[in-house]
Amino acid sequence: MLALLARTMTAKTCLMKPSTLVKPVSVRKIPGRYLAHQEGLPKLPLPPLRQTCERYLAMLEPVISEVEMNHTRQLMAEFLRSGGVGERLQKGLERRARKTENWLSDWWLQTAYLEFRMPVVVYSSPGVLLPRLEFHDRQGQIRYAAKLISGVLDFKTMIDNETLPVEYLGGKPLCMNQYYQVLSSCRIPGPKRDTVVNHTGKRPPAHITVVHNFQFFVLDVYNSDGTPLTVDQLYMQLEKIWNSSLQTNKEPIGILTSQHRNTWGKAYSNLIKDKVNKESVRAIQKSIITVCLDAPMPRVSDELYRSRAAIQMLHGGGSRWNSGNRWFDKTLQFIIGEDGSCGLSYEHAPAEGPPIVSLVDHVVEYTKKSEMVRSPMVPLPMPQKLRFNITPEIKKDIEKAKQNMNIMVHDLDVKVIVFSHFGKNFPKSQKMSPDAFIQIALQLAYFRMYQACCSTYESASLRMFRLGRTDTIRSTSSSSLSFTCAMDDPSKQNTEKVALLHKAVQAHRAYTDMVRCVLCCSRSVARAIDRHLLGLKMQAIEDLTSMPEIFMDTAYAVSMHYNLSTSQVPAKTDCVMCFGPVVPDGYGVCYNPMEEHINFAVSAFNSCDETDASNLAQALHGALLDMRDLLEQTPQAKL
Ligand code: COA
Repeated sequence: MLALLARTMTAKTCLMKPSTLVKPVSVRKIPGRYLAHQEGLPKLPLPPLRQTCERYLAMLEPVISEVEMNHTRQLMAEFLRSGGVGERLQKGLERRARKTENWLSDWWLQTAYLEFRMPVVVYSSPGVLLPRLEFHDRQGQIRYAAKLISGVLDFKTMIDNETLPVEYLGGKPLCMNQYYQVLSSCRIPGPKRDTVVNHTGKRPPAHITVVHNFQFFVLDVYNSDGTPLTVDQLYMQLEKIWNSSLQTNKEPIGILTSQHRNTWGKAYSNLIKDKVNKESVRAIQKSIITVCLDAPMPRVSDELYRSRAAIQMLHGGGSRWNSGNRWFDKTLQFIIGEDGSCGLSYEHAPAEGPPIVSLVDHVVEYTKKSEMVRSPMVPLPMPQKLRFNITPEIKKDIEKAKQNMNIMVHDLDVKVIVFSHFGKNFPKSQKMSPDAFIQIALQLAYFRMYQACCSTYESASLRMFRLGRTDTIRSTSSSSLSFTCAMDDPSKQNTEKVALLHKAVQAHRAYTDMVRCVLCCSRSVARAIDRHLLGLKMQAIEDLTSMPEIFMDTAYAVSMHYNLSTSQVPAKTDCVMCFGPVVPDGYGVCYNPMEEHINFAVSAFNSCDETDASNLAQALHGALLDMRDLLEQTPQAKL
């Protein structure tokens, strides 16, 4: 895979290669700060084989039957046999860990993103919904867009100068690499596998792309002396763009990027056969960010507004609305609607939500501070409109993409709720981890709906390690199941329920600590299992040996079928990230716990009769309240 990355590298672009430390190039940087920080981070440890396998069996217990469990135990015993396949694969991983910066990150990038063939829209790219803005007209839209672009450029200066403050999680400094991957980046479709290009090399781009009424423009955002355009200048340029893209009958070329990746890969080769198209596509790919000036979406009641706007950020609302006003392969697309809706859509391959949201926090703060500065009226050139020659074949591809997009739009249900009774403050007052408390509430909500638990994924950061991405917290445990079964059982005393709740919350917290490798120098410390299992599988593929039985087992498939795919993406801004479910009969749940309230975005597919985003959101609301009442109404025994 690395060989493939190297082969496709061109002179002007730098393919994203997380296996090596990428040194950013900029003008006034604090030289070496980034690399010195990165090199000081520990390498991702490789967990011990037996420990992962034992923890895997423990994790299966609540989600599979005893008969399946016995079968899997036998397969595992064979896998772990002395001198057997498990040991051989583990040795391969140990070699890889010695030779690479991070034994996992390339495999993760390829398998989780670039080889994933479903459309990035709904199936991979998250949306972020920002608070509604107080304008309902073109002027307000353009004014805010100008401030927002200025805020992004302000953040970019920190990236370029290597002055971004190092982030910490649980007291540990985090890998900052993802910040260097999100600007001037774009995913490129391939017939079987995609790539990501990052253009922050020797001649970094000085433009963004702006799209309005499906028409793309190049907007140069730096003056010839390297200073960024002022908000005032940006406003004038955006106004020119707006006025020269008033026609609403243009072909929504960007909708092509919403297709299944193989389909888009083929359409892409066809599209860029034409020289003009190729140059236009390249200008979008190279641009620092894309800004989408959206047409107003259908009006809805205040109650429904957040859910509708979240949908706008995720997919644009369909071909009649704003889905053609995007280039979904672009890593960062800020979206500003004429009706005051605002947020972004981001392509997931280069980064996780937290760095994106911390950029958003900076930009939102910036927009509050910066007022329009009157700039000298130096005439600026008209932003260049990007031309596309639409052949009959391209037109056919666009029509197909429109149809498929509309099917996706009809299928996705998103419910955004603000849980306003408490936020992080209540679990903290109970000396509980807020994240664990919310996850156990989700378990209770799901159990109440289905009288069963399910495989649950919560993403947890591995950024305390060099080039770290994520591992999985398995929120369903024997402890969570004991609590959810007991909670509505009238034969159980409240004191017992409270004890079980504490145990479930602690089990979840212990799992979080495993991902973080608390006391990571100690050999005996427990580790998370999922990325290690992936590594063993990938090693088998690389060694060209047959796939070990433990990965062909029903139990493995069940454990990977995440009916609940969840993530906490905390922000200072009162926003929420949203994403689609990862299985047809599942839910996507993302939340931002603020001090006194929690924003949730719940998604499900309408085509599945068994799931309903509103019902889960309501059950979650009830579960959080009932857990609080239980704790408040029960005299707390010493636990
Ligand atoms: N008693 C009192 N307070 C507690 C507590 C306890 N027992 N346990 C935790 N807290 C406090 C923490 O100190 C923290 O305080 P702060 O608000 O002042 O910062 C707060 O509660 C939040 O802690 P917690 O809820 O436990 O969450 P966390 O910050 O440790 O985050 C994860 C947990 C799993 C979300 C985090 O480790 C992580 O990995 N985040 C990244 C997720 C990610 O990458 N998602 C990708 C999306 S694309």
